[in-house]
Amino acid sequence: TTVDIDDADYELDGHADFLSKEIHEQPAALRRVLAGRLDARFATARLDGLRLDPRELRGIRRVTFLGCGSALYAGQIGAGLVEELARIPADAEQASEFRYRNPLVDPETLYVAVSQSGETIDTLAAVEELQRKGGRVVGVVNVIGSAIARQCGAGMFLHAGPEVSVASTKAFSSMATSFTLLALLLGRVRDLSAAHGSRLVEGLRRLPDAVETALQTSDEVAEVARRYADARSMFYLGRVRGAAVAREGAQKLKEISYVHAEAYAAAELKHGPLALVDAQMPCVVVVPDDELLAKNVSTIEQIRARGGPVIAVTNAELPEGLADAVLRVPRLEPELDSIILGVPLQLLAYHCAAVLGRDIDKPRNLAKSVTVE
Ligand code: AGP
Repeated sequence: TTVDIDDADYELDGHADFLSKEIHEQPAALRRVLAGRLDARFATARLDGLRLDPRELRGIRRVTFLGCGSALYAGQIGAGLVEELARIPADAEQASEFRYRNPLVDPETLYVAVSQSGETIDTLAAVEELQRKGGRVVGVVNVIGSAIARQCGAGMFLHAGPEVSVASTKAFSSMATSFTLLALLLGRVRDLSAAHGSRLVEGLRRLPDAVETALQTSDEVAEVARRYADARSMFYLGRVRGAAVAREGAQKLKEISYVHAEAYAAAELKHGPLALVDAQMPCVVVVPDDELLAKNVSTIEQIRARGGPVIAVTNAELPEGLADAVLRVPRLEPELDSIILGVPLQLLAYHCAAVLGRDIDKPRNLAKSVTVE
């Protein structure tokens, strides 16, 4: 699939800034990343750009995602999906650490270099180090013709369109969607049933509309932002499917609103951070409607017992009055939770930055892509 990009992509189109535009473009971006890649007949994904035949796909014993910042957090979502759907070990590593630590490169591992710009120096250097040692690396990149795309020579383009704002939003959700496709493909050459594959194909088909619905929380999120944007710090908490997207949410808040935020796996609270919870520490809790729902409800109760305000981002029915604010999004297949639950987190960062009068598209001290050491 090729996508034509025209000058309109660089216009604000009635939005106050590019970040707002790009957040709201996500349904269209997800339609593009999925276009031509869903195979309903065999309940799988078609990713010809990987240049891996079924036998080679079957021979992959591990998947390691490499990236920086939001690309890394998207990779963490990808690793969870590969483990869950393909039942092979998977992890995500900071490209910068990988390149500097003389890594063990395993011939049976598929390395996935993840980058919106395709120009991030640490990720490019990790690719070169891998190739030098004979590793098999594919790229998941947005910008066609970029250095990482060329260096990898195989992979998936995101087709998200130009991302102008420094904070990544539509590229992030497109990355997570592309990893769902990859995990589905790896699962279907192994033991993932056709029935499960079909549910996911159908869920992916409906994903852009669900994200559209999630975007309708924007006014509610703006109200929440007015209440909490003056906080000095916030916690972002999640478990398993909610954990990586909580990290991304915290990163987004720091990046554009300059409000300090830390993300923790919810069960870690009692091992230290709970000491910081009081009325001045709003906690954003990601609550998927999954088998860990009761655990997340209990985390919220523990925070509120210490006076901490709770903003719950959920696709579950929560007990009345459980949280100070509840941001509800649609539920499709559980594997798609983090993409949909991520939308109100992007909006929260956006509206906090707006309340605080920040330079939303060009946060201080940051560049869109880090191409020098
Ligand atoms: C995202 O909001 C950040 N601006 C940053 O973490 C970014 O994701 C990172 O620098 C990686 O960029 P890339 O995807 O272009 O490689």
